[in-house]
Amino acid sequence: MNLSPRQIVEELDKYIIGQPKAKRAVAIALRNRYRRSRLPKEVREEITPKNIIMKGPTGVGKTEIARRLARLVKAPFIKIEATKYTEVGYVGRDVESMIRDLVETAVRMVKDEKTHEVEAKVKPSVDAKLVDAICDSRRAKDIAVDKTIVTEELAAGKLEDEQIEVNVAETQKPMLAIGGPEINLGSMFDGMMPPRKRKRKLSVARAREVLMAEESDRVIDKDNVFAEAIRRTEEEGIIFIDEIDKIIGKAGGSNNQDVSREGVQRDILPIVEGSTVATKYGNVKTDFILFIASGAFHVANIEDMIPELQGRFPIRVELDNLTKDDFKKILAETKNSIIFQYASILKVDNIDLKFADDALDEIADMAEKENETSENIGARRLHTIIELLLEDISFNATGEHPLMEIVIDRNYVRNAFKETNEKYDLKKFIL
Ligand SMILES: Nc1ncnc2c1ncn2[C@@H]1O[C@H](COP(=O)(O)OP(=O)(O)OP(=O)(O)O)[C@@H](O)[C@H]1O
Ligand SMILES: [Mg+2]
Repeated sequence: MNLSPRQIVEELDKYIIGQPKAKRAVAIALRNRYRRSRLPKEVREEITPKNIIMKGPTGVGKTEIARRLARLVKAPFIKIEATKYTEVGYVGRDVESMIRDLVETAVRMVKDEKTHEVEAKVKPSVDAKLVDAICDSRRAKDIAVDKTIVTEELAAGKLEDEQIEVNVAETQKPMLAIGGPEINLGSMFDGMMPPRKRKRKLSVARAREVLMAEESDRVIDKDNVFAEAIRRTEEEGIIFIDEIDKIIGKAGGSNNQDVSREGVQRDILPIVEGSTVATKYGNVKTDFILFIASGAFHVANIEDMIPELQGRFPIRVELDNLTKDDFKKILAETKNSIIFQYASILKVDNIDLKFADDALDEIADMAEKENETSENIGARRLHTIIELLLEDISFNATGEHPLMEIVIDRNYVRNAFKETNEKYDLKKFIL
């Protein structure tokens, strides 16, 4: 991942309006991973990531920044809800599962890359197997076959839908979870026993996928994949902990809930501080994993967190409340903006939906007012307003009419809500 901080911010800007401080902070943290990776080993070991806490009201883009970041970076990334660990299972809170999930992500990434690399190498043998399977299947139905013609037609992509019988390895090996790391019985026996084969009826296209996966699996060195996945997890992994404020009790709080929340913080602490977690692919050191936490902090403050954990999140960024102007941009200017999404959906049913600029003003204005007068739910308000605004069109569009252009202007918006205001209690609806 060699994007400069500026480029990362530019990418995020395509999807997220405003919040420059949060964008800069995550961009710098990401780039620092790369910078660190270029240093000599002795120096590298000394530099731990500067974890980030994003604090801000509901619906202003915290989770959205994480989601976009995840697609941007080609690093193992997972997002977890901190509240998940407040549920205690019989073996205690399994906070280490976040590391195991992260490794799984890394394994999948590396496997995909390797599969891609060996694709050309295994294609001929897969094609040969497909040709044989096609010929056999045809013969079984007493159809005369000419192998040369089958080979040609297969290469030309003419046989993709033909149903054939192929021998494929059994998938899904039994898994046994005993408290700690899951032990994959299947993989323990891998290499000891040849995989069981089973005949399956598949289309040629599907059979090719299965056989390609099987063949690549055979030629890819699994140990290398796992080792590389662990390296990436340790050096490049990012864990986004959402709703962190929900595991923070009130300062000095002593009821059961506060105590259990503090317990979760204590459980998470060693992982954030750096420890070793056993996974089925090997041990993972968590010292250099980057953690980005986020929360609304309506009730609890960052300062109510246990001090040791606070100390592990030295970078704090506050997200801003969104303004009317931001709302207007979120509606129309982002890639995959809200109105773009609705327009695309309705296009399927032959509606060509357009929004006049004054309609956007009106909606943004409504969103801001509603957020002030009732609960402040940030940009989520826009979704509820648009949903209600387009309810009539969404309900009546059938696709059986010719393409119909509908332009939503200020009057349309006002009328739509005048009626709703009279028909229903708007407050009840808009939440
Ligand atoms: N700054 C923004 N730019 C573009 N879209 C935004 C922005 N903020 C919020 N949105 C939109 O609002 C929705 C909710 O935002 P998001 O999930 O990021 O909220 P959040 O800040 O994580 O809130 P919460 O504290 O409730 O989890 C997103 O799906 C996105 O469409
Ligand atoms: Mg969120």
